[in-house]
Amino acid sequence: MRQLWTVRSRVDNCLAVRENHLPGWTDRCDDRGVLAVRRAKPADAGDCVAIVRGLPEYFTEDVPDKVAADLLAHSTWLAVDGRTPVGFAIVERRFAHAAEILWFAITASRRGHGVGSWLLDRVLGELSEDGLRLIEVKTLDAGAGYEPYRATRAFWEKHGFLKIDTIDPLPDWSPGNPAAIYVASLPPALSG
Ligand SMILES: CC(C)(COP(=O)(O)OP(=O)(O)OC[C@H]1O[C@@H](n2cnc3c(N)ncnc32)[C@H](O)[C@@H]1OP(=O)(O)O)[C@@H](O)C(=O)NCCC(=O)NCCS
Repeated sequence: MRQLWTVRSRVDNCLAVRENHLPGWTDRCDDRGVLAVRRAKPADAGDCVAIVRGLPEYFTEDVPDKVAADLLAHSTWLAVDGRTPVGFAIVERRFAHAAEILWFAITASRRGHGVGSWLLDRVLGELSEDGLRLIEVKTLDAGAGYEPYRATRAFWEKHGFLKIDTIDPLPDWSPGNPAAIYVASLPPALSG
């Protein structure tokens, strides 16, 4: 009975979110919550930094400051559950046709439930509509032999990213941390 009530109220919640749909927001409902995507504001930096600090196997101690600065300088999308950010993507546009995903992370407790895939689809969909054709991401190469990043590379590869190079050392990365350079192409926007 309690289960039925939970499912019913989740459905009601999803409907309520859709009825109050704001421009630029997209919704996703699953068994873990009602999610939306929105552009970040400067005040969201603390939440993004907290997500990064909660993933110490993935991000070194210099990363929180870089994320806070990059959020102000570049386009940032947040996945939010209610008012709580559960993931973010920071993208630097290099040219009209090309951009790099500088930072991408899902809060530790929500990893592995499709939130990253959903956020990435929304971000790339919006960028594609805006004329983007190529997207790059750098991540730790398999040659580093560091287990946690196996899942990260699987994530990018599942979403069509192809490795085009390994660079070690990459400027700003410490030696011994080979960078895998991945790119993916986006289809031309239908409206384009
Ligand atoms: C990488 C990350 C963004 C993926 O987001 P997510 O919500 O956890 O991933 P999803 O649930 O959408 O998974 C999509 C696919 O990624 C791969 N994947 C995700 N977690 C995985 C794991 N633990 N092991 C192997 N593959 C995994 C799988 O291919 C999966 O598809 P499947 O569910 O059909 O098997 C997220 O886990 C994260 O924040 N990781 C730590 C920080 C990080 O690595 N950021 C990127 C730096 S370049």
